[in-house]
Amino acid sequence: MMKLGCSRLLLVSAHVLLCLSAIWTLAASADVPAGQRPGCPDKCGDVDIPFPFGIGQQCALHDGFDLNCTTVDGGAMKPFKWNLEVTDISLPDGKARMNAPTIATQCYVPSTGGMEYYPSWLNVTNSPFWISEVDNRIIVIGCNTLAYMISFSHLIGCHSTCAGVTLKNDTACSGAGCCEADVPKDLQYYDGYFDEEYNTTEIWRDSPCSYMVLMEKAAFSFKTSYVKSTAGFWDAYNGTVPIVLNWQIEQLNGCDEAKKKTSSYACVSRDSECVDTSNAMVPGYLCNCSDGYKGNPYIADGCQDIDECLENANPCGPEICQNTLGNYICSCRPGYYETDGVCVPIQKRSRFQPMPVIGASIGFVVLVILVACACLIQERRKLQKMKQNYFRQHGGLILFNEMNSKEGNAFKIFREEELQQATDNFSEKQVLGHGGHGTVYKGLFKGDMEVAVKKCMTIDEQHKKEFGKEMLILSQINHKNIVKLLGCCLEVEVPMLVYEFVPNGTLFHLIHGNHGRCISLSTRLRIAVESADALTYLHSSASTPILHGDVKSPNILLDGNHSAKVSDFGASILAPTDASQFVTLVQGTCGYLDPEYMQTCYLTDKSDVYSFGVVLVELLTGKIPFNLDAPEKEKSLAMMFMSAMKENRLAGILDDQIKGEDNIEIIEEIAELAKQCLDMCGDNRPSMKEVTEKLDGLMKVMRHPWAQQNTEEMESLLFEPTADSAIGSAEYFSIEKRAINAMQSGR
Ligand SMILES: *[C@@H]1O[C@H](CO)[C@@H](O)[C@H](O)[C@H]1NC(C)=O
Ligand SMILES: *[C@@H]1O[C@H](CO)[C@@H](O)[C@H](O)[C@H]1NC(C)=O
Ligand SMILES: *[C@@H]1O[C@H](CO)[C@@H](O)[C@H](O)[C@H]1NC(C)=O
Ligand SMILES: *[C@@H]1O[C@H](CO)[C@@H](O)[C@H](O)[C@H]1NC(C)=O
Ligand SMILES: *[C@@H]1O[C@H](CO)[C@@H](O)[C@H](O)[C@H]1NC(C)=O
Ligand SMILES: *[C@@H]1O[C@H](CO)[C@@H](O)[C@H](O)[C@H]1NC(C)=O
Repeated sequence: MMKLGCSRLLLVSAHVLLCLSAIWTLAASADVPAGQRPGCPDKCGDVDIPFPFGIGQQCALHDGFDLNCTTVDGGAMKPFKWNLEVTDISLPDGKARMNAPTIATQCYVPSTGGMEYYPSWLNVTNSPFWISEVDNRIIVIGCNTLAYMISFSHLIGCHSTCAGVTLKNDTACSGAGCCEADVPKDLQYYDGYFDEEYNTTEIWRDSPCSYMVLMEKAAFSFKTSYVKSTAGFWDAYNGTVPIVLNWQIEQLNGCDEAKKKTSSYACVSRDSECVDTSNAMVPGYLCNCSDGYKGNPYIADGCQDIDECLENANPCGPEICQNTLGNYICSCRPGYYETDGVCVPIQKRSRFQPMPVIGASIGFVVLVILVACACLIQERRKLQKMKQNYFRQHGGLILFNEMNSKEGNAFKIFREEELQQATDNFSEKQVLGHGGHGTVYKGLFKGDMEVAVKKCMTIDEQHKKEFGKEMLILSQINHKNIVKLLGCCLEVEVPMLVYEFVPNGTLFHLIHGNHGRCISLSTRLRIAVESADALTYLHSSASTPILHGDVKSPNILLDGNHSAKVSDFGASILAPTDASQFVTLVQGTCGYLDPEYMQTCYLTDKSDVYSFGVVLVELLTGKIPFNLDAPEKEKSLAMMFMSAMKENRLAGILDDQIKGEDNIEIIEEIAELAKQCLDMCGDNRPSMKEVTEKLDGLMKVMRHPWAQQNTEEMESLLFEPTADSAIGSAEYFSIEKRAINAMQSGR
């Protein structure tokens, strides 16, 4: 009994600590029938088809769950959803495993002497399905390959090479000939895409083909033959790869609303319950059998009591087990009686020898307690050791010593328990958002101090070692327009960061959210100046220059006074940016990504300038930077803006809200600056410092009542201060002068 308790404790702690990504196995055990409506087939070939899935429209809950049962080449029957072969459906998890013909291939063709491309894509929009970010990975295989996954708002890829490394057969994608990246949340559509600059024309004799797939990570292991032979990987998987999709019953506002609409509520079985999946992109719900029941909650009487007594291990040990609905009762076997929850033999309770019996039972209880304590202590030690290991791995000691030597430093090293407590055990309810690198939770310390806790998905070896050092640099950043890093937690596998909480949403929300509020040009300009100032600080003033790497309006937060606060600047440091590493992760956001960075994989301060240019254009036009649904020419806002500037039709694309204002000169100046930031060649772009100075000048001009007059008038007024302007100090004039110079040099 105790041993059982121990191993469970170990399991739970290991789960919490390591965040072991659950390897999904079929959750519905074989002894439970799939559960279908009467008259509907519950199998297609070997695959169970449980309702809400069904073969044919009349058997499925709705079109989204309608499957085809088709005879394939070999004569076997197999279920299909579109062209995806369904191999496994799990009701409790809301997951389905499918085989998808989505291997993007790039091969050298000796007969033509050129490369041939077979792109791939997957589109499950407008269906109950989305791609599981937990079970799948983006995998790129090749010896000189840069491949991406592109979706509406994501561009994620990696660079794989064989130069200077030893290829080995490996279950992990270790970097040699193969690289991998995390799948973003809520993905329903992607395109596989190769950068043609990276190709195998030079090395085709050794390695003719490259591949890019998004597939179930547990089903992948790297073989050297994948890169050595033509179609090696393709043949190994016969052209299709397993992928795990999540599914749900769609319903805005999840369970609350679903339960109200009794006619369409899908959890119809007795002893079933509703599980909210409202954290998904499109909110919805799943049904699950209540504790102690199993089966299909989607059909009447589908949930059946589990007879726990017949399970493999009798839950009562040697004692008598009696099943009840949803539970079970243990009672002592004949000849034993219960005392303090333990069964002891009756025979030994002799009237004439009371002492030994009491002694024995006390002894037994003491023994049990001792064993329990020993067990707990052992577990504690293991846990402590694991935490210490992580702490050391992440450079915690350096950081700790450094922090202790500094007085009055607000940076704190948090314990894991503290963060768990503050975030309600990383509850889904506390999720503030999902970034490219992880999830951000809202936390509350000591009842009133609000913080944002960032939990990253993964971290690579290189950065693991340097984490402590990097934290040291980040902790010294102190700028009013940069989200303050309050501390970190190092005793977990992937370190967590604790930031100050910024309450008023993001710039992206302010511009594109349809709250109906009008945002004046001066507010826009102020936010631009503040963000630019923050980036300038990161690039130049901070002790070690820091590149942001993912400048975009969703990363510019707004505080109570709508002051800008740049966030997520740690991302660039957590993600590898060094092109000399053989696996290079190019990660950024579509529409903001510097084209030069995409080509060279080398992040520079000018990449941030480019992305900032896009933010400027966003502020001027109120348009979304990347829109896949738009016609070809209007997909990328940066390109659309550049061609509008070239053809002198800036007015045509300005945001209606600022078009009316008579600050057209200022607007033109900002547009001109944005144009310089968006120059294809990084060297031609202004530095962040120059951008800030220029914007700051424009803001000063605008705040001044003279700004509406033309420049010459302003200049003459400057040298003949009137009573009105007498409030201005000498410094004020010098700023004004600089602003005018900046305006003139911009022309
Ligand atoms: C089922 O197959 C038919 C004919 O091949 C096709 O028209 C239909 O779209 C398929 N339905 C699904 C759900 O795949
Ligand atoms: C459904 O219930 C089972 C067992 O009670 C549990 O393991 C599973 O996580 C539940 N599913 C969801 C989506 O909560
Ligand atoms: C994906 O499919 C949906 C319909 O199922 C369609 O409306 C949409 O245009 C498709 N998206 C792309 C990018 O092909
Ligand atoms: C990898 O495995 C394949 C067979 O699956 C074998 O032919 C090859 O020699 C192995 N390569 C290495 C480096 O072990
Ligand atoms: C292959 O790559 C080289 C440079 O890396 C490039 O010049 C060439 O155009 C590429 N070839 C193809 C067919 O894309
Ligand atoms: C691969 O698929 C084809 C049909 O697409 C089938 O005939 C063949 O048997 C499959 N091979 C393997 C090894 O599964």
